[in-house]
Amino acid sequence: MCGIVGYIGNKNSVPILIDGLKRLEYRGYDSAGVGILSNESAEVYKKEGKVSDLESHISEFKLNSKVGIGHTRWATHGIPNEVNAHPHFNPEKTLLVIHNGIIENYTVLKKNLRDEGYEFISDTDTEVLVNLIDFYLKKELNLCNAVRFALSKVEGTYGIAAIYKNEPDKIVVARKGSPLVIGVGEEENLIASDVNALIAHTKRVVYLEDNEVAEIYKDRFIVKTLNDEKLQKHIEEIEGSIEEITKGGFPHFMLKEIMEQPESIKNSLRGRVILKDGLAKLGGLIGYEDRIAGSKRIIICACGTSWHAGLVAEYMIEQYADIPVEVEYASEFRYRNPILSKDDTVIFISQSGETADTLAALKEAKRKGALCVGVVNVVGSTIARESHTGVYIHAGPEIGVASTKAFTSQLIVLSLITLLIARKKNLSVVEGREIAQAILELPEKVQEILNQNELVEKVAEKFVDAHNFLYLGRGYQFPVALEGALKLKEISYIHAEGYPAAEMKHGPIALIDENMPVVFIAPTDSVYEKVVSNIEEVKARGGRIIAVANNDNGKIDDLVENTIKVPSTIPMLMPVLTVIPLQLLAYHIAVKKGLNVDQPRNLAKSVTVE
Ligand code: G6P
Repeated sequence: MCGIVGYIGNKNSVPILIDGLKRLEYRGYDSAGVGILSNESAEVYKKEGKVSDLESHISEFKLNSKVGIGHTRWATHGIPNEVNAHPHFNPEKTLLVIHNGIIENYTVLKKNLRDEGYEFISDTDTEVLVNLIDFYLKKELNLCNAVRFALSKVEGTYGIAAIYKNEPDKIVVARKGSPLVIGVGEEENLIASDVNALIAHTKRVVYLEDNEVAEIYKDRFIVKTLNDEKLQKHIEEIEGSIEEITKGGFPHFMLKEIMEQPESIKNSLRGRVILKDGLAKLGGLIGYEDRIAGSKRIIICACGTSWHAGLVAEYMIEQYADIPVEVEYASEFRYRNPILSKDDTVIFISQSGETADTLAALKEAKRKGALCVGVVNVVGSTIARESHTGVYIHAGPEIGVASTKAFTSQLIVLSLITLLIARKKNLSVVEGREIAQAILELPEKVQEILNQNELVEKVAEKFVDAHNFLYLGRGYQFPVALEGALKLKEISYIHAEGYPAAEMKHGPIALIDENMPVVFIAPTDSVYEKVVSNIEEVKARGGRIIAVANNDNGKIDDLVENTIKVPSTIPMLMPVLTVIPLQLLAYHIAVKKGLNVDQPRNLAKSVTVE
C-alpha cells in the first residue's frame, strides 16, 4: 500500500525518483507525487493517476535537484485526487513528508493541531503528521528530533520520509509497521519501500526495523531508536537484477510471470529434493524439523491467494503427515482469541512478507508461544524476519498485482514441507520418492500447459461478455476453484465465485442458465466421476461449461465443448497444473476487455494496512 522512494547524492534526483516510483507502482497507483529541495526552496509536484501521468506533467519544468522524495498512493483517507496526493507539506511549504501506513489517532491529533492554529487542506491522515512535525520544528528542534517527537504521539503504522528546506543535506525516515529500506551507494544514498526501487543503483541495503528513525546524508546515514539511542546496523547484499523486474518483452508483468512458472518452480525446488531418499531438504527448517513434525496441530494463516495456497496445504499435510491442520484468514485470526500453545506450529504464507494482517497474526502467535514458520517470497521482508524460522519460495520479484507464479511456488514449498514432515512420521521411502519424483517433473508439465496459451485465448474470447462465473472443484481442486475465481474478479471485474463442486446443489445451481459460464476443474482423481455428474447437471440446465481436465479424461471430451487439457501428476500436486489455465483464462478475458491487468482498480499488491 503506497510506495515511497527518496534520493540524496550528486545526481539529479528526479529521474531516479520517477524510475523508483514506476517500480513501486504495484503498491498503489491512485496518484503520485515528488518533492524536491532546490534553489533553497521546497517544491512539490503531484498528479492524480499513474506515475506516467506525473512524469509527463513534470517534464516541462526541467526539474533538477540532488535531494528528493516520491510517493505513489493507494488511497486510505481521502479520495484519490491531487490535493490528497503526497508529498504533504507544512503551512510555509518548507517541510515535505511522504507516508505509507495509517495514522489511527489522526482525528485527535488534528483537533489538537487545529487548536494550535493549523489549517488542513487535504483529507489525509498524513497532513496531520506533517503539521505535527512542523509543530515541533517550531519549538526549535531539528528535523530528526521533530520527527521523533511527532512519532511518539502517533498511533498506527508508518513508513515515512521527510525533507526540510532548512536542513537540505538530509532525508529523515522512520518506520513502524510499513517497510522501509535504505540503499547504500557511493556518494549517494536512497530510501524506498522495497528493494525493487533501489536495485538499479545499489545492492547494499539496510532494513529499518519498527520504531527506528534514520538521518540519510549523501555520504553516510545514522540510525537511532525513536528514543534517540544510536544503533549499529548491518549492511546486507541483496541478490537479483534489474532484468528480473522489467517486462522482458511481454505486454504485461502478469503474462510474463505466468510464462515464467517453469523457471520459478525450478528455483523453488532447486537443491531441496533428495530423490534417492525420497526426502526434502529445507535449510531454513534445520533444527526445527522435529518440533514441526511433533506438532499437535498446524495452523496456516494468510490472506488472498496465499490463503488459497494454505488450503491446498491443509489437504497435503493431513493426507501425508497425519497432523490436523486449520487454515485461517490472518485478518480473522488476529482479532479472535486463538487458542494456541507451544505444541502448535503456525505457518504464515505471504508473497510480499509485508501484509499487515498476516504480520499481526504472526505477532499474536509468537506471543502465545507457538512455533512460527514463514513461507515468504520477498527476501528480508518483515514476516520473513519476524518468524522463528522459514522457507523462502524463491519465485523472484512478482510485480503483477494478481499473484500467479508466487502461488505455484508456494505450493511447491508447501509440498516440500509436507514431504519433510511426512517422512519424519509414517511415510515410507518409496512413497517419499514418488512424491519427490512428481515434484521434479512439474516444470516440464507446466510448460506443456503454457504451450496451449493460444487455445486458452480462444476460449477466453467466447466469454468476454459474461457478467458472472462459477468455478467448481472438489478435494484438492476446491482451493483451485477459489483461486481461479479470484484471478478473474481481480483483473476482469467479472463477478466470480468458487465453490466445492458438491455444494453446487445447495444453492449455486439456482443461478445456472444459458448466461452462466461454469468452470469445472476435473482431473481424473478419486472424485472425478462425481464431478462429471455435476457437469451433467449443469449441462442439463443450459449452463456454458469450461473444463480443465487431464488428457485421459474419458467422458469430459464428449460432454464439454471448451476443454483445456493438462498433464497428470499425483493429486496433491495437481493444483500446480490446473491453476495455470485459469490464470491464462483470467488474463485473456481481462486483456480482451481492454483492462489494465497489472494494475487493477482499487487493488494493491502489498496490503500494509488493515
Ligand atoms: C493482496 C494481493 C494478493 C495477495 C494478498 C496477500 O490482496 O493483491 O495478490 O494474495 O494481498 O498478499 P501476500 O503478500 O501476503 O501474499
